[in-house]
Amino acid sequence: MIKDICTVIRVKKIADSIFEMVLEGRIADEVENPGQFIHIRVTEGNAPLLRRPVSIAAVDKKNHRLTIIFRSGGQGTLLLSRKVPGETLDILGPLGNGFPVDKVDSGGTAILAGGGIGVPPLYGLGLKLREQGVKVISVLGFQTAESVFYQDEFASLGETYIATVDGTSGTKGFVTDVLNERGFEADILYTCGPLPMLRALEAGDYARETYLSMEERMGCGIGACFACVCRKKDDPNGHSYKKVCSDGPVFKAGEVLI
Ligand code: FES
Repeated sequence: MIKDICTVIRVKKIADSIFEMVLEGRIADEVENPGQFIHIRVTEGNAPLLRRPVSIAAVDKKNHRLTIIFRSGGQGTLLLSRKVPGETLDILGPLGNGFPVDKVDSGGTAILAGGGIGVPPLYGLGLKLREQGVKVISVLGFQTAESVFYQDEFASLGETYIATVDGTSGTKGFVTDVLNERGFEADILYTCGPLPMLRALEAGDYARETYLSMEERMGCGIGACFACVCRKKDDPNGHSYKKVCSDGPVFKAGEVLI
């Protein structure tokens, strides 16, 4: 992990309130696994706000560039969405452990199941798995057609299915509706998205192994402040815990209480 000043190369709105940003800096060279994240310091005037954790969607090590995708919701992400090329950002990263990409062999099948702003880290994961000769099936869930993004990018990796809550694009319903309907056979399932989706996928029987990435409110991002703790599933009294920022954000299904 390093602290770096990265340059904004591009900012583009790609769906309703969703922005794609390309950053250039040494942090790109340090990324080890898809699913890691960066912690961005956003300032308003001279006043620093809390850092914002944003997952890494793709890395271009040759050009020292990272692509991130975020939802502009609160004050920090709104300011981030207004950055223009040439501006710089103070960033800590890469943080977290990311997805284990060695759990599926070449020729195997992986399902990538993403919901909303949990979709971006799965794109970098899909690129890596394809490179390793793994068949990738992507199932992506959104609220409505206007919030769908990266459909073509995922389609370039393999079969891709969309679900929207209101049925305006793809299957009406949730990621689990697509999985139940299609009955894919897969060696492994990787997922990132809202907690109800993670719970449903953990409870289902969709692959031999499941890994889920948690999105938690974070403080320091480096394991020092306890803002992101979650309880371990095998500890009924709740005395032991895991930190999402440094032990995760990716956990094996059944490891932590979600
Ligand atoms: Fe501080 Fe995880 S955010 S310990």
